[in-house]
Amino acid sequence: MKDKKIEELIAAEVRRQSDGLEMIPSENHTSGDVLQALGSRLTDKYSEGYPGMRYYGGCEVVDKVENLARERAKTLFGVTHANVQGYSGSPANQAIYFALVNPGDTVMGLHLYYGGHMTHGLKVNFSGVMYNSVQYHTGKDGYLDYEEMAAMAQKEKPKLLMVGATAYPRIFDWKKLREIADICGAWLVADISHIAGLVVAGAHPSPVGIADVIMTTTHKTLRGPRGALILCNGNPSNPLKKAERTPENLPTLIDRAIIPGLQGGPHNHQTAAIAVALREAATPQFKDYGQQIVKNAKTLAAGLSAKGYDLVTGGTDNHLLLIDLTNKQISGKEAEKALGKAGITVNKNTVPFDPRSPFDPSGIRLGTPALTTRGMKEDQMQQIAGWIDQAITHYTDEKLLGNLRAEIKELAALFPLPA
Ligand SMILES: Cc1ncc(COP(=O)(O)O)c(C=O)c1O
Repeated sequence: MKDKKIEELIAAEVRRQSDGLEMIPSENHTSGDVLQALGSRLTDKYSEGYPGMRYYGGCEVVDKVENLARERAKTLFGVTHANVQGYSGSPANQAIYFALVNPGDTVMGLHLYYGGHMTHGLKVNFSGVMYNSVQYHTGKDGYLDYEEMAAMAQKEKPKLLMVGATAYPRIFDWKKLREIADICGAWLVADISHIAGLVVAGAHPSPVGIADVIMTTTHKTLRGPRGALILCNGNPSNPLKKAERTPENLPTLIDRAIIPGLQGGPHNHQTAAIAVALREAATPQFKDYGQQIVKNAKTLAAGLSAKGYDLVTGGTDNHLLLIDLTNKQISGKEAEKALGKAGITVNKNTVPFDPRSPFDPSGIRLGTPALTTRGMKEDQMQQIAGWIDQAITHYTDEKLLGNLRAEIKELAALFPLPA
């Protein structure tokens, strides 16, 4: 590379990732094939529109790329329609609102401080500014409060019920959620960004056939490049005709919301990399991978619980743990910093009913997808639980944190990033 500054920074980031433990649950390590597609000439091509209906010439190759990505997404998840053009999760969610509701309509989503995403109706996000957002919470036990949700649906009559989370360690009961949406005839949107890889592996129930629309980012447990899929059933209608908001018209509504609604040209290099990741996710090895993510998270949870850590909901069913550190007399921010010095990357996070601010919350959130990609299993999780405990207990002891960092680097060297 001629740009030495960027070359060095890329090398530094690769070193940071390889020498440490990436435990942010929304992160992962992609394969060499995904990286190759992402760094390809496909990025040079403009192709506004959809395969066979583009506003640009020279799209015969990228049409094939996008069709392949769409077909693989449909087969993997078992739906009749997939839009693969969303630039990332947030714009994909924006497209879903745009497709299904009008500005000012009531929408209902999980509050950010209780594990929801900003795009699920946070008042400072477009979803809370453009729409009348009402927000549900978890109960004191950290579990979704389905009764509160049903009562809220009854009272507020949202037109769209958004379900999904960035920091929720338990299973979503899609059938119950469908019943809640049906109380007021709301569209049920499942945002499975965090858990898509687990859904594919059969390690989390699938919302397919229950939710009206499913959105997932492609870069978390699904282990692809940054990007998004919007999945639904229905039939694409005549491109020249108006499409009413009916379940049958969902493919048309979603596609039109992406372009011309919100986006311009698709990122073809990204689409190709998504196609590669979807092929990888369709293998038996990926099923084992998804199952192992959960086994690892459960082992880590058991190890930390045994050391007196207060896990929100008492444990995990998926890829992540949310830890309330109040009883350890350390804030989430201090813990994130100490673990970082030891070479373990996590993020500070609010816990349900957190008395502290989101900038300095009571908890941390950590997960196993990236470590599992590197081939780590239960034994390593036990070892890591011990290191996390030491770093948190002695968080001001720079020497100890430095020693931990050296030990962690030794373990990390045994589990290289994917080639
Ligand atoms: C549940 C959920 N939805 C949407 C998003 C948004 O994805 P992106 O960061 O790609 O915009 C995230 C990302 O953290 C998420 O966790």
